[in-house]
Amino acid sequence: MISSMKSKILFFGDIVGSIGRRAVCAILPRLREQYSPDVVLANVENLAHGRGITPKTLIELDDIGVTAYTSGNHIFENPNGLDCFIDVRWKDRLIRPHNLLAHRPGKGIMSIQLNGQKLFVVNLMGQLFMKDAVHSPFNAIDHILTHELLSTDDTKPFILIDFHAETTSEKEAFGHYVDGRVTGVFGTHTHVPTADLKVLPHGTAYVTDIGRNGAMDSVVGFEKMTALSRFLGKTQKSYDIAEHGVAEINAILLEIDLDCRTVFGLTRIQEKIDV
Ligand SMILES: [Fe+2]
Repeated sequence: MISSMKSKILFFGDIVGSIGRRAVCAILPRLREQYSPDVVLANVENLAHGRGITPKTLIELDDIGVTAYTSGNHIFENPNGLDCFIDVRWKDRLIRPHNLLAHRPGKGIMSIQLNGQKLFVVNLMGQLFMKDAVHSPFNAIDHILTHELLSTDDTKPFILIDFHAETTSEKEAFGHYVDGRVTGVFGTHTHVPTADLKVLPHGTAYVTDIGRNGAMDSVVGFEKMTALSRFLGKTQKSYDIAEHGVAEINAILLEIDLDCRTVFGLTRIQEKIDV
């Protein structure tokens, strides 16, 4: 009997600030030993103190072997990060939302080698309660699947989507919309992990939000006293990232059968680490 080829993808949700980077750098060697992922992905829109990326912060993740990066609405907030999208080190393994209305550097789809096969990773942003204007992610994925990711043979390509959105309803609706057409839909942006990992009826792996890698004693990764003061109407001070204390790690391990082209494992990885 010939056993089929399996592959594992480890996907970290939004890495928030230096505490998030320290936590991911500290834990990845152990996760590698434990799970042996073939590919490691991470959402980096909040990497540089909550606002986008810089070459230095991406290098920290490169140094621990993160394969490629997705992002979201905050990715262009640090001007030092703009050139990363054209830098030879990252231009093919760093993406931003594909459906932005504004003209921005970079692209929203990348392809990664997965045990000799191609894995496409797509970044899309939701429309509800998001400040940035975007094209409908539903129309965008239809266009991507019918015009941009045509396979050269009969095999269906492996496609993972980082769906960066605020509301649970838009995320679940999107998951069902693409069920059976893509390998997985992993939500990011809210920084709070959801307990709804599942394989949808037609075979797509789904989670509403992976959750953050950042400060635990915080409000979605932001300094909690400022956040509370804002909610109590006592200040309009802008949020600052919480950078100290215990960090929470939130990632998803996706296991796929490369021959049967099916999902056979979906595991939430949730840890605390004092960095
Ligand atoms: Fe976001």
